[in-house]
Amino acid sequence: MELGTVISTLEGPSTTDFSFVVSNNKVRKGHFVQSETEEGLLIGAVTDITRANRYFERAESIAEYERGGESLSKNFPTTDWEYIVANVRVLGVYSEGHLLRSTFPAAPGAKVSIADDKLLKGILGFDENGMLLGQLENHKIDVKVSLNRLLQKHFAVLAMSGAGKSYLASVLIEELLERKPEQGRVAVVVVDVHGEYTGFKSSPEYSSKTTVFEGRKIRIGLGKVSPQILGEFLPQLSSAQKRDIDSVLLALRQEKKSKNELFDLDDLVEKVGSSSMKETTKAPLLATLSSLKALRIFSKSDNPSVYELAQPGRLSVIDLSNIDNMRKKQLLVAYFARKLFTARKKSRIPPFILLIEESHNFAKEKASKQDMLSKSIVEKIAREGRKFGASIGLISQRPVQLSTTALSQANTHIIMRVTNPYDIKHIGEGCEALDESMLKSISTLRVGEALLIGEAVNFPVFVKIRSRKSKKSTKGEEIDVLARKFEELREKKKADVEAFI
Ligand SMILES: Nc1ncnc2c1ncn2[C@@H]1O[C@H](COP(=O)(O)OP(=O)(O)OP(=O)(O)O)[C@@H](O)[C@H]1O
Ligand SMILES: [Mg+2]
Repeated sequence: MELGTVISTLEGPSTTDFSFVVSNNKVRKGHFVQSETEEGLLIGAVTDITRANRYFERAESIAEYERGGESLSKNFPTTDWEYIVANVRVLGVYSEGHLLRSTFPAAPGAKVSIADDKLLKGILGFDENGMLLGQLENHKIDVKVSLNRLLQKHFAVLAMSGAGKSYLASVLIEELLERKPEQGRVAVVVVDVHGEYTGFKSSPEYSSKTTVFEGRKIRIGLGKVSPQILGEFLPQLSSAQKRDIDSVLLALRQEKKSKNELFDLDDLVEKVGSSSMKETTKAPLLATLSSLKALRIFSKSDNPSVYELAQPGRLSVIDLSNIDNMRKKQLLVAYFARKLFTARKKSRIPPFILLIEESHNFAKEKASKQDMLSKSIVEKIAREGRKFGASIGLISQRPVQLSTTALSQANTHIIMRVTNPYDIKHIGEGCEALDESMLKSISTLRVGEALLIGEAVNFPVFVKIRSRKSKKSTKGEEIDVLARKFEELREKKKADVEAFI
């Protein structure tokens, strides 16, 4: 489809940009276009479109003319004078199957047309066997992202609340669960703060591949915990206190091991109580241990085990929606993230992707001593995970609060609608591939639209995320639906009672 003709302007055409006057109003911002040059086929993306009309240039003349009740458009051929100019950023020149850096500008007078679909798929780096996330905006091309390119490193999904982050994450999970063994199946573990992913369990296609671990039943097994990890659970301890509890822990482990038994927090408390350490150390230690105990998440062995959590081609939902205590959530996330990472390093579990919802709560930029617990492991996986096939997907509606270390390790950014200027600025700083025109577009994205940028694609693309197949969990339902259900249930109960009487 022909779109227009390259024009000569003050700035160009240059090797990086050109403009064309539009002959076909179907052109849109974000379109990929092509134009023939001496070097080969120039490929570019429309970064902006402007519309001009001589008749409407002088505000005072128009005001004056129309004051008399006349309309300029009615008496003059104004539409004949309208023209539209599209600005294009050059991506490169396509020659002999490759996209090369452009070293020669487009020719004024040359025709511009919509880029060829087949060509575009290759140029953008889509993978026929990849994960189908949606359709390329303005083009009828499926966006199929290569698993390796997306997961070998890390990715972040950033957007304001309600923009469609969890929806997109669900689409991604569906694609991962549908992979066949010969395509390579990873384990998917999602830290589900609002119980939004439990819907997978009630979706016929995915229920047999999904396990939901209810937060209240999850336990950290102390039986095999190392002094180092115990120390991380208790960041407030002084080094002297740490030393003392370490020796008690090691002695306890030794003793229980010889009897082939495991121990829990009660055993540890008892051992500290009966130990010969100084009273001044003992009392605060006991107090700290009892604060841990109050969380009621410790037991003799892990529930679930890391092997239950990470299985190829399966989804494990860590449902934390019933836990309010932030410290508890952080402890659980930190512990199991570390377990997964260590087990993966030793190849005991398959490669995995750990999706973390509300990740700004688990990897806070301004972290207190308490917050460090989960932050340090998230950052560690983000830094080192790629070597071992341990990948992280950070999902957040507060990018400003998210650890810059973790964020800078994300090689693919999926950005959806954001309107807060501070967030937009922060996203721009954390993602160098984003240019000014794309940054401006972020606030105009609609729900379900995403800008995909970084390692997973060769060039930034706007994607309309596809419809999900899995059921949405009832926890994410709209207020009117919830309200209706509540009343219906109440009516039903009333009717039941009446029937009984
Ligand atoms: N691609 C899409 N197609 C159709 N509907 C969508 C799409 N993406 C999101 N929605 C709808 O928009 C609403 C909000 O989506 P979602 O819950 O994923 O937002 P979110 O970014 O995760 O918000 P929060 O930050 O509050 O968790 C949902 O009701 C969902 O059904
Ligand atoms: Mg969400």
